[in-house]
Amino acid sequence: QRHLISAADLTRDDAVLILDTAEEMARVADRPIKKLPTLRGRTIVNLFFEDSTRTRISFEAAEKRLSADVINFSAKGSSVSKGESLKDTAQTLEAMGVDAVVIRHGASGAPYRLANSGWIDAAVINAGDGTHQHPTQALLDAFTMRRRLVGRDAGLGQDLDGKRITIVGDILHGRVARSNVDLLHTLGAEVTLVAPPTLLPVGVETWPCEVSYDLDSTLPKSDAVMMLRVQRERMNAAFFPTEREYSRRYGLDGDRMARMPEHAIVMHPGPMVRGMEITAEVADSERCTAIEQVANGVSIRMAVLYLLLGGNEPAVSHPRNTEE
Ligand code: CP
Repeated sequence: QRHLISAADLTRDDAVLILDTAEEMARVADRPIKKLPTLRGRTIVNLFFEDSTRTRISFEAAEKRLSADVINFSAKGSSVSKGESLKDTAQTLEAMGVDAVVIRHGASGAPYRLANSGWIDAAVINAGDGTHQHPTQALLDAFTMRRRLVGRDAGLGQDLDGKRITIVGDILHGRVARSNVDLLHTLGAEVTLVAPPTLLPVGVETWPCEVSYDLDSTLPKSDAVMMLRVQRERMNAAFFPTEREYSRRYGLDGDRMARMPEHAIVMHPGPMVRGMEITAEVADSERCTAIEQVANGVSIRMAVLYLLLGGNEPAVSHPRNTEE
């Protein structure tokens, strides 16, 4: 594949290859000099039309660790504010010799349009589009689950067959939920969505997962519980649940976490709203992998960039070979 637009486009073998490659990339992060020469001479632009902390910074870290030249573009402060279109913005950047575009956009489908319109030749990687997809988030989440629930070395070549994953919160506006359901299903996991009926999308019954409105009965049957933020910014205020009512029914606090099996982990893609979907006690507990997910995001994004742009160079096996 030349682009990464949707987690649904990945086969089981594609996904396992990315997870295994990310394990190799993680070894680079453990070294004193965290750099590989793999993408030397390649130029990548990070094209962010929506705010981001984790995704934008971890793509930049991944690109720099692979020795790519990096251009950061933020819509704020650019000629987008003067009315310049996505097409003209992308073609302007490609004229400067860009090999890949990492794009975050508020409109669902913008990365697909960029990849398939013929506007540019560069590889396109979706860093989150509207309420649609966030494939590298789903990959880093799967990577974190495989490490914690199967094992770092034992997990190599493995998927998440039979693992029970519960995703809780704003499924309606959540590209993270949609991407995770697609990828986790491909990797053999059993997914349950827990949300108030108003935060579930029309047609969710056709998704490859179960749906429940009862968090307490789902927790004891979960290997991982992923808490999602309620996305006020995408919501009409009239439909917004009160914070107290929401956290009473769907928030994860210490008492609820105690219902989970001992081995089970709590996940959050960030940003967290402490006190709403997750209490500080849970967010700061050893069972919560939120910070680990951020670190794993760099390895996953290195793997994706390497596999899309690295060509036939066997850079992934170099870190081990040079150490041995
Ligand atoms: N998880 C995630 O996409 O976070 P950011 O919006 O900060 O990139």
